[in-house]
Amino acid sequence: MKKYFSLLLAGVLTASVLTGCGAGSNASSAKVDINSKTLSDGVLTVGTNAEFPPFEYVGDDGQPDGFDIALIKAVAENLGVEVVVENMEFDSLVSSIGSKTDVAIAGMTVTDERKQSVDFSTPYYSAMQHVLVPADSAISTYDDLKGKTLGCQLGTTGDFLIEDIEGATNQQYNKAVDAVNDLVNGRLDAVIVDSNPAGVFASNFQGQIKDLNGEDFGFEIEEYAIALPKGDTALKEAIDVAITTIKEDGTFDKLVDEYMK
Ligand code: ARG
Repeated sequence: MKKYFSLLLAGVLTASVLTGCGAGSNASSAKVDINSKTLSDGVLTVGTNAEFPPFEYVGDDGQPDGFDIALIKAVAENLGVEVVVENMEFDSLVSSIGSKTDVAIAGMTVTDERKQSVDFSTPYYSAMQHVLVPADSAISTYDDLKGKTLGCQLGTTGDFLIEDIEGATNQQYNKAVDAVNDLVNGRLDAVIVDSNPAGVFASNFQGQIKDLNGEDFGFEIEEYAIALPKGDTALKEAIDVAITTIKEDGTFDKLVDEYMK
């Protein structure tokens, strides 16, 4: 009787984990590692800043959409948990992990400074800072940026990079698109922003701004990864396996085709 009861209890526990599955997933894809306290409620609460196309933006339905959102949904399906996305300021993402959110996906570059507060998944994308300038600008080298008025999104690697440019005035914005608007309006000499969003912004203002490759400015390659609560190794392991699976089974390439135009 006792044995039957504990079997029944095990059945109930398994069932409660499985109800967390998103639509379309099945029992065999549920691989919840119960050692991860982050996943124990069957919900992955994900912070993002939906101001970074094509990785994240607010879709026509008012909800965050984009490559990263699709990727984290695929990861969660793989883990057999539900996703709840919280849209917030980029600058708040790291400090929200462990309180308001479980993890963050936001085209976030792995940096040593961030590693002091959070862990990172295996990287899923490589990028670089680009320089957006007015179409008639003479800026083309790193030295040309010295002493100029430069715009960026607050708390981003572009922001950190401007801090090191001699004599530059750093204009920080909550949204990169606001910096781009000020560039078009003649209030900035350049905007420093990641390669893919730079391409999107440049095509939105075709003929008005130029998208200059950061390679010509000596900028370094950056790796995007999912930011994770520090020390939850079971979660990191589970998410890394999910990313590897998604890369191997073709899902990742499908998302690249769908979102990176
Ligand atoms: N890759 C840059 C960084 O990590 C910019 C990311 C901005 N992402 C966003 N969703 N606004 O600092």
